[in-house]
Amino acid sequence: MFHGATRMAFLDWKNEFNTGIEAIDTDHKFLVSLINQLDEALRDGQNQEVVGSVLNALYDYTNYHFLREEKMMKACGYTDEKEHAAQHQDLKTQVMEARDAYLKQQTDDIKQPVMDFMKTWLADHILGHDMQYVSSMLANRDAAENAARIFDNNKDWMLTENGDVQ
Ligand SMILES: [Fe+2]
Ligand SMILES: [Fe+2]
Repeated sequence: MFHGATRMAFLDWKNEFNTGIEAIDTDHKFLVSLINQLDEALRDGQNQEVVGSVLNALYDYTNYHFLREEKMMKACGYTDEKEHAAQHQDLKTQVMEARDAYLKQQTDDIKQPVMDFMKTWLADHILGHDMQYVSSMLANRDAAENAARIFDNNKDWMLTENGDVQ
């Protein structure tokens, strides 16, 4: 639904979110836009089907982004890749739980905690964790970009946890 330019975005893109690595910044911007779409859908009082589909898109894209980022970190020899991947696993579980909590208990009291969580994890993870690999990735930019390309070509992210193609 179009609301004109007056409505404020829930989460604005900040300069400090920029890593300078295109594949990463594009993904992070898309995640920010999905969180804003979720906020709009909730504020507009959209039904469970609409909100649920945005939550699913957010989960799927988070999964895709995390896996691709992990390949890129590995390709440039970033030493804390394993610790970072464990953080991703943790966040994925939390995003899934937030989605399930909303879908099971579609009440007003769940909206604010879900949105607060979405905003916080993204900003904190980008600023607190993603920023740590930036110098190593910039020093090995070709290897990182190549890994991102291979990942997209292989369509690995379309595999479910069971290894089935979605
Ligand atoms: Fe990350
Ligand atoms: Fe990231």
